[in-house]
Amino acid sequence: AIDSNFDQNRERAGEENGVAVWGPVDPPAKLGIHGTHVAVDYDICLADGACLENCPVDVFTWVDTPDHPVSERKVEPTNEDQCIDCMLCVDICPVDAIDVDAS
Ligand code: SF4
Ligand code: F3S
Repeated sequence: AIDSNFDQNRERAGEENGVAVWGPVDPPAKLGIHGTHVAVDYDICLADGACLENCPVDVFTWVDTPDHPVSERKVEPTNEDQCIDCMLCVDICPVDAIDVDAS
């Protein structure tokens, strides 16, 4: 599962698609955690898609991640500032790849 304390345990490694990336990052095999309020662990996400299909405010966008060992696309929390903290994505992800900081 994603480390919910990633913002303390990891370092900012940059930004992609307007979203913070938390390292370590070593593409294409290691992609880190994307997002801060809505965070997706790219090294756990297997492209199930339930988060993207069910988010009531369309926070997520597909991005291609060719040659990643788990899946060749991931969800970017592009619109994380729109999140209403419903926690649906956290509950529905089959591999617990998402953390939402609703505190
Ligand atoms: Fe969307 Fe709800 Fe997840 Fe926020 S917590 S990203 S609103 S599904
Ligand atoms: Fe990935 Fe989980 Fe969504 S596997 S696509 S974060 S439901």
